[in-house]
Amino acid sequence: MNYLYQRDFLRLLDFSDIELENIITLSEKLKKIKKNNQEIQLLKKKNIALIFEKESTRTRCSFEIAAFDQGAHVTYLGPGSTHLGTKESIEDTARVLSRLYDGIEYRGHNHKVIEILAKYSSVPVWNGLTEKFHPTQIIADLLTMKEIFPKKSFFEIKCAYVGDSHNNIANTLLEASSILGIDLRLVSPKKYWPEKNILNVCQEKAKKNKSKIICTENIKEGVKNVDFIYTDVWVSMGEPEKIWKERIALLKNYQVNQNMIDLTDNPFIKVLHCLPALHDQKNTIVASMLKEYYLEDGVEITDSIFQKNKDIIFEQAENRLHTIKAILISTLIQDIGFKTQIYDL
Ligand code: CP
Ligand code: NVA
Repeated sequence: MNYLYQRDFLRLLDFSDIELENIITLSEKLKKIKKNNQEIQLLKKKNIALIFEKESTRTRCSFEIAAFDQGAHVTYLGPGSTHLGTKESIEDTARVLSRLYDGIEYRGHNHKVIEILAKYSSVPVWNGLTEKFHPTQIIADLLTMKEIFPKKSFFEIKCAYVGDSHNNIANTLLEASSILGIDLRLVSPKKYWPEKNILNVCQEKAKKNKSKIICTENIKEGVKNVDFIYTDVWVSMGEPEKIWKERIALLKNYQVNQNMIDLTDNPFIKVLHCLPALHDQKNTIVASMLKEYYLEDGVEITDSIFQKNKDIIFEQAENRLHTIKAILISTLIQDIGFKTQIYDL
């Protein structure tokens, strides 16, 4: 029985540990199948809508390649290219797209929009990032963690997330950790801790799982003995540019640099980043900020730490493809286990 069939994929708290583990296991198999050039197309004749109200490199390309590899067709609807929420209600757009497509991906500014889209759609809706959650990203990160520690269960993994702990990546990592038992420390100034309602539910869930989730301002306490440090940009898409000043002032001590790495006391420490990353000056954001604020070496992560961890960070990026493919197959194919050899490979 495929319990994921026809389900929406809006946030991880909607899923059980077994459901998340199944998606990760299927992703591993799909990765192997692709590398061996043995793709079995399960999504032939499926049509997928990709709504992006914000820019994207990894998520859009992963949805498209996952669909193409599996024989499905996509329509890309970029920023401002539909009537959604302007000339037409979200409800009506959802009803129309459901009659044309087998599934709808949505990336946008307001999580409420995707909830309404999902409520009025009769086909699965997948969250390609909202200001609150980025679930397809964290599934890829969980696969990456598992590849690094194939013999460890998630209960044995310790991870510190440092930087802006009230953004979509932190919220989603928090939800994943509470479900799977990861020992998670959110390391940030108090002002940037997650919203109480999400944090309380996750801490309660972690307690029931006999695992631990803490928020701390203390970097030494937060990163000591962890297996992973995870960081993300300090200002997310859709936030006003003027917020940079405050973020740099409050987060500068939370940069992932050699000093923080030394504080982990773990010579095998690995650093994760969902990308895009501000680790050098080869982008217009850092170049323009350099004029306004004094920044010496990277923003949320220094270039030398980024370079030392780039193999893992780019593996995370590649894993977006395999995990998104697993999510598409799991939600669009009912008898996946019986009809295909995928589970037997
Ligand atoms: N990590 C991620 O979602 O990247 P994009 O914004 O490029 O999709
Ligand atoms: N927090 C970042 C994640 C980018 C993948 C943002 O929302 O911009």
